[in-house]
Amino acid sequence: MASRNSADLGAATLGPIAACVFDAYGTVFDFSSAASACKDRLGEQTAALTTLWRDKQLQYTWLRSLQGRHADFWQITGEALDYALDTLGIADLTLRQHLMDLYFTLKPFAEVPDMLRRLRSAGVKTAILSNGSPAMLNAAVAGAGIGDLLDAVISVEEVGVFKPHPRVYQHACDRLDVGSGNIAFVSSNSWDAYAASAFGMRVIWCNRYGQRSERLPGHPDRQIASLTELPLLVCP
Ligand code: LAC
Repeated sequence: MASRNSADLGAATLGPIAACVFDAYGTVFDFSSAASACKDRLGEQTAALTTLWRDKQLQYTWLRSLQGRHADFWQITGEALDYALDTLGIADLTLRQHLMDLYFTLKPFAEVPDMLRRLRSAGVKTAILSNGSPAMLNAAVAGAGIGDLLDAVISVEEVGVFKPHPRVYQHACDRLDVGSGNIAFVSSNSWDAYAASAFGMRVIWCNRYGQRSERLPGHPDRQIASLTELPLLVCP
């Protein structure tokens, strides 16, 4: 029997795909670019801040979802940053503000615009489905100049709960009017990729960070190292 371990995932096309739906942070936008831009101030703590900030941000989304105490991703991002700065012993309100400003318009990964163009010219719809608040997503999309290359920018704020709640993935199907089996969901977050697969989407795990396979429900259909490889998998 074929193993479902991600290491075995092949390179063949996925079959009929009407829409590609992307996670935002870590997949389309590089969340490490915020701390990296403050390297002169953060020095050797740059990588630690990026990791702590991200880990805490995700934990807060899951914990708040479990508690039924939703707050938007901008608030959570700020609270996670406060935790990370406190942990590293950094008390600098100007730096905090600068990091938040940078997070608001994070840089996209270099391959994103060309990849989106290729999908659109092949007739594949494109959308973002993210925890980000509408204001955060709109600012990042506008800053990256990719607004014209996206059919929809969908925030979990329209649902009121964070990923990986199944209602979030269902909402993308409803907004795009495409069935889950004809959507290729693309995420660099392993837990997000596995959850979308368990929900019923076709999934391409963009494993930029060399993460291990999860021991969770779902199994990504393909694994790639950057979005450059995506059009070959989903374009007819
Ligand atoms: C997002 C986070 C999870 O964009 O990366 O939804």
